[in-house]
Amino acid sequence: MCYNICTMAKSKKIVIANWKMNPSTLAEAKKLFEGIKKTTSRVANVQTIVCPPFIYLTELSKNYSGNKIAFGGQNVFWESGGARTGEISPPMLKNVGAQFVIVGHSERRVQGEDFNIVHKKARAALKEGLRVILCIGERERDKEATYLSFIKEELESALSGISSKMLSHIIIAYEPIWAIGKAAKGAMEPQELHEMTIFIKKIITEKYGRQHTLKVPIIYGGSAEPGNVETLITKGMADGFLVGRASLDADSFGFIVKTASTS
Ligand code: PGA
Repeated sequence: MCYNICTMAKSKKIVIANWKMNPSTLAEAKKLFEGIKKTTSRVANVQTIVCPPFIYLTELSKNYSGNKIAFGGQNVFWESGGARTGEISPPMLKNVGAQFVIVGHSERRVQGEDFNIVHKKARAALKEGLRVILCIGERERDKEATYLSFIKEELESALSGISSKMLSHIIIAYEPIWAIGKAAKGAMEPQELHEMTIFIKKIITEKYGRQHTLKVPIIYGGSAEPGNVETLITKGMADGFLVGRASLDADSFGFIVKTASTS
């Protein structure tokens, strides 16, 4: 087993750009990355991670010589090689400069990734020494709060068989699906986020104990943008953000990173 990425100090905020299936050309990807480099260059105390489409990862990471930005994949397969058309393995991701990988994003879960697949992907990535950005989140909220048992089940299944040592290489991205993307009503209320971070910490504490829970950053995703990130940190107690749309604009993303560094 390989654990070659240092455990990140919990106090450091984490801001992740999830470009999803954007932009359309390598030239645009390079331009966006250059912009993000500029707008985040003076920021301290934030781990910035850029997750471009696989096809741009090699080119961006090999031409980047700085140490402020790390790279991540948006997905990974659970085997190391073989007849898996269209898939990318954990060793391949590492080989092109990724240190992180998003696992269990809701946009993949709707395409058929069930709890078991997410679990297998998380384990395989961790074993390879990648840090896992584990996405969890309910589709909708109900008055009876059954979404809480869903979150518990989703998180517990992803973490099953994950040791406390591996746990320290996981970032939990809480992303309520109803808050993600263009059609969303907007980000969730900071108070609701605070309640959810407490709930997630409780689940982790029950499984691993408090001292391990403290090492797991819980970041927020779902319409995170310049206008709401400050309160999501100060009142929502987010340890950072997984940013979709706003990460496609270097100024907006830079603003979010700066806000995370000072909030
Ligand atoms: P959004 O996406 O910021 O566009 O809502 C977040 C995500 O899906 O990671």
